[in-house]
Amino acid sequence: MSSNIQGCKRTHYCGEVHHAEKGSRVTIAGWVQRSRDLGGLIFIDIRDRTGIAQAVFNPETHPQAHALARSVKPEYCIVVTGQLGQRPDDMRNPSMPTGDFEILVDEVEILNESQTPPFVVEDGVDVNDTLRLKYRYLDLRRPSLQRNILLRHKASSCIRRYLDNTGFIDVETPVLTKSTPEGARDYLVPSRVFPGRCYALPQSPQLFKQLLMVSGFDRYYQIVKCFRDEDLRADRQPEFTQIDIEMSFIEMDDILNITEAMIAGLFKETIGVELLRPFVRMSYDSAMDLYGTDRPDIRFDMQLKDLTDIASQCDFRVFTSVISGGGVVKGFAVKAPHGLSRKDLDNLNAVIADHGAKGVMWARIEDDGWKSTLTKFLSDEQKAAIEERLDLASGDLALMIADSRETANASLSALRLYIANRLGLIREDAYGALWITEFPLLEWNEEAGRLVSVHHPFTAPRTQDLAKLETAPGCVKSQAYDMVINGYEVGGGSIRIHSGDIQRRVFKAIGLSDEGSRSKFGFLLDALQYGAPPHGGIAFGLDRLVMILAGTSSIRDVIAFPKTQKAYCTMTDAPSLVDEGQLEQVGMKLLKEKAQ
Ligand code: AMO
Repeated sequence: MSSNIQGCKRTHYCGEVHHAEKGSRVTIAGWVQRSRDLGGLIFIDIRDRTGIAQAVFNPETHPQAHALARSVKPEYCIVVTGQLGQRPDDMRNPSMPTGDFEILVDEVEILNESQTPPFVVEDGVDVNDTLRLKYRYLDLRRPSLQRNILLRHKASSCIRRYLDNTGFIDVETPVLTKSTPEGARDYLVPSRVFPGRCYALPQSPQLFKQLLMVSGFDRYYQIVKCFRDEDLRADRQPEFTQIDIEMSFIEMDDILNITEAMIAGLFKETIGVELLRPFVRMSYDSAMDLYGTDRPDIRFDMQLKDLTDIASQCDFRVFTSVISGGGVVKGFAVKAPHGLSRKDLDNLNAVIADHGAKGVMWARIEDDGWKSTLTKFLSDEQKAAIEERLDLASGDLALMIADSRETANASLSALRLYIANRLGLIREDAYGALWITEFPLLEWNEEAGRLVSVHHPFTAPRTQDLAKLETAPGCVKSQAYDMVINGYEVGGGSIRIHSGDIQRRVFKAIGLSDEGSRSKFGFLLDALQYGAPPHGGIAFGLDRLVMILAGTSSIRDVIAFPKTQKAYCTMTDAPSLVDEGQLEQVGMKLLKEKAQ
């Protein structure tokens, strides 16, 4: 099917000229990919968002057009008209949809010239990221980025269609607002009218969507920008897009079912992939036990096993001292053939360096016994017990870590991913989607010196755990859930607290006094007093979803104008210095000398 460009002088997109009738007159417009002057004929490849078409200029039949074509350079913007012809057999290019055809040009117009671009606009050209981001508008002309941005458009229209058809209504919420706690620092916007006061850009529309439930809108959605000042990673940007959803009169299962169908539909419609349904549901505790993380990649095995009971019996000081200090020994098996040399095994320590574990212990299981530094510390029975627990056979490898439970889990999780990538255990066409449920409501935060919410403080505790809110708050589980695909957290949400009393108790558990909670969230506490319905919701990271659909490992590849690792926009030079007058208007003065 050709795209619709009715009503334009242009008759076809470049990548679709083959849909025109052979011999008909066509007009295409786009950018010059390359031009070849073969002395007589000139061939110009013209590119637009759909692909490339070849235009041919013949000096004998159309000397004027040919003369103009000689001056054309890469990235010139041109429009050509001519007859669609078949390429001679020896010039056909089967790797391009338009590769059998060419346009025999009789009219050409240069719409705009181009300076020599700072890099060749083509996929697979080695160019540094800073240059690419500085000239992002040129980089975006590349076919792979055009595909990604188009895929993103398809994804958001697919989501909108699903939600529109399922009774959700799109409501916009404020961007200049008050801080909503989602665990990151806020971006602040100073007010001119109230000098010294600031708006915060929303980390999410969390409170507004809850208030919309109180207002009776019942099913809300919004595809919305959120802003978080946090350390950036390949799957994190300071401004990103959420598919934000909230519903009234529902239970957790309803939310999981409705949004699971939405995500399954998204994968089917955009990339033709059927996700295995129903998604696996795994408790937070099981995920931590089996994978060492709450966002496990289940596309490959290598589940973790706890070896603490066996290790506590041996003479190895590293094991026994960790265990007597409350730590654990955990490990997993790498099945033969793994091809990891002794040097590779010694290098595994670098993989876990960032996670704080002191080292990886390994054992190769061979026909004549264990090859490992641990051999002399373990009895035959202990070795046999480990072999049985990890399901080890001859040729396999055991990787083990002794440390605090947290450190051992984080390190083994990183190690498991490293080994899977290194050994090519992850099939490119495999997708592993699951729900993680039964999160703890609160966790201890060393920096803050108090309990903080694992999700956000509006998350409902499990009803059966309510009594523990005051007596054992660290043991309360929440009614929160995350969706994980291929090891990425793509969405998270919860059933909310709709009783003012429980909300106050949760605020208290995270160290907010009645006064503190009133000054921060008085409007929410008030709203809960006016017949707030039971409600819950979820937000998905659109950027992360499209990143997975596009098969890339950086969300920068699916955002038209992303920021760097330092939240800097190389193209516009934002953030930038503002003049003193502007600062004065909002009642601000710089403490430090301006950076040069
Ligand atoms: P949460 O903080 O889990 O929940 O965010 C929801 C989803 O947004 C995506 N995400 C990000 N994507 C890119 N860059 C970031 N910096 C970033 N931060 C988060 C993730 C994540 O799963 N208000 C709650 C939702 C709710 O309870 O309904 C919230 O924002 O994919």
